[in-house]
Amino acid sequence: MKAFLKPLLVILVCYLLLKIGVPLVGSILHPGTWPVIPTGVMKMYVFFIVTGVLLMSTFSDEGYDALVGPIVDLYTNPAKAMLKLVTVVLVGALGAYITYQYVKPTFDAPVELRSIHPAPPSSIKAFGKRFSLQKLKNPFRVEDKEQLAKSAEEGGIVYYKNCYFCHGDKMLGKGPFWEGFNPVPANFVNIGTIAQLTESFVFWRIATGGPGLPSEGTPWISAMPVWHELITEEETWKVILFLYEYTGHNPRVTKEHH
Ligand code: HEC
Repeated sequence: MKAFLKPLLVILVCYLLLKIGVPLVGSILHPGTWPVIPTGVMKMYVFFIVTGVLLMSTFSDEGYDALVGPIVDLYTNPAKAMLKLVTVVLVGALGAYITYQYVKPTFDAPVELRSIHPAPPSSIKAFGKRFSLQKLKNPFRVEDKEQLAKSAEEGGIVYYKNCYFCHGDKMLGKGPFWEGFNPVPANFVNIGTIAQLTESFVFWRIATGGPGLPSEGTPWISAMPVWHELITEEETWKVILFLYEYTGHNPRVTKEHH
């Protein structure tokens, strides 16, 4: 029995170090936090610890015998037939229970599915006009590099006056207010946002904001404001230019159908 105690103790101490020690160090470095190790990573660590401890304690023949001996004894000693039967039943039952838990169907409502980039409507109403999105182009995306840079710079002013609070000074979606929102503000540097979108799509999203999302975009309580009520059409196109110039992404272009 003693042979089991030491490895068990080592595993327990390692586990506690990870479970409590790591967050404790984190809380000292960053007061007010308690950074736990994610469950998936924890499982991996425990697996390696158990494997390591088993290896260590079976390096020598004596160690091996001490650890495995009692098990062999249990299964070969006729005097322990009853105990053997009990353990076989228990181990079998445990396996059955785990398997059952794993495969049993659940009756919970399915996770609400939402589409992050739902198909845009074919036309939108904004700035007191109707826009057909398919043909819509950014009037400030011109060949002249100097002119383009000037428009983007003006877009930057619009950005830091209006968008920065949520989307952040580096466009990472971490402005001063970001934590208050779910869904969180879009991160424009991430290739999952504007880099995937056409400028007309971005125009639609900015002009009509969260309330402009179609039903596939819900249930999604987006805090994105309805900008066509707050900034001008010109400012909208310039801020779009700025988003792409700042992040270095190119807008998606669609082939024109004739
Ligand atoms: C009050 C916070 C807030 C402000 C201010 C704000 N946004 Fe947003 N924005 C959001 C949130 C939250 C989302 C993510 C949910 C969504 O897509 O509606 C978002 C999404 C977007 C998206 C969609 C990105 C994508 O991948 O679909 C664009 C484009 C955008 N914002 C541009 C802007 C611009 C430009 C401004 C400034 C004129 C601005 N936002 C100001 C909160 C804000």
